Amino acid sequence: MLQIDVLTLFPELISTPLSQSIMGRAADKGIIEVRAHQLRDWATDKHRRTDDYLCGGGQGMLMKCEPLFAAIEELRRENTRVILMTPQGRVFAQPVAEELAAPCVQGEDAHYIFVCGHYEGVDQRVIDTLVDMELSIGDYILTNGAIAAVVVIDAVARLLPGALGDARSSEEESFANGLLEAPAYTKPNVFRGMPVPEVFLSGNHKAIAEWKLEHALQRTRTNRPDLYEAWAAAHPEHFAPKKKKKKPTPLTHYKNRKPAEE
Ligand SMILES: C[S@@+](CC[C@H](N)C(=O)[O-])C[C@H]1O[C@@H](n2cnc3c(N)ncnc32)[C@H](O)[C@@H]1O
Repeated sequence: MLQIDVLTLFPELISTPLSQSIMGRAADKGIIEVRAHQLRDWATDKHRRTDDYLCGGGQGMLMKCEPLFAAIEELRRENTRVILMTPQGRVFAQPVAEELAAPCVQGEDAHYIFVCGHYEGVDQRVIDTLVDMELSIGDYILTNGAIAAVVVIDAVARLLPGALGDARSSEEESFANGLLEAPAYTKPNVFRGMPVPEVFLSGNHKAIAEWKLEHALQRTRTNRPDLYEAWAAAHPEHFAPKKKKKKPTPLTHYKNRKPAEE
């Protein structure tokens, strides 16, 4: 099971989206448990303050050490990884989601504590002492780390065995094999004069797989040349000229042949 404790000033930003649809069902099935904590519960002063002015001056407020140290020290276990959401972290992508899901995919339990910043972020002493991994969801600034944590938790949870109805769903998706997913169609076969590509109606699974790969490559080359270059470098065989299959020798060729001498 994957257990996640989230420390935030806005627990509803975590609990509401993660209780819907696939995430809600994964929790019901006991695949994942997400507990959203109000960080103020660990504040000790009478105003339950979690932030203070910046040392040395500067705009904005910073999240204080005391409540974060108290919360993490209380929730942390032996196998816990503490993950800070910050625009300064490693950029989150599918391989990171796979890395975080890996223990559970291998049948083990995992426990993460997500720390969600607010204001100008978090006192550096929290990062230096308690944080195992800093994660960013991209090169832009959000107001709040809870929004970023939802993105990460959702992407990790759908990789857990049993979270999706069909495990192939995540295996065939964009990024799973380094490419974007091929175009997809559903019924009706013709909509406003636009037909579904014929190959999908052929029942020929090999031809469909080839069509999908070629269109995934085209789409990736257009939308994400960085991914395309990496895939092409890793799969030179795909671009090698196809060897012409030798025509089988017609049986008539053997007709007048003498049997081999013994
Ligand atoms: C306004 S931001 C603080 C930005 C910080 N002053 C800086 O320049 O790096 C407030 C909080 O939102 C979260 N956050 C903002 N952008 C993020 C991103 N791209 N990825 C992950 N978390 C982000 C972090 O938890 C951060 O502490």
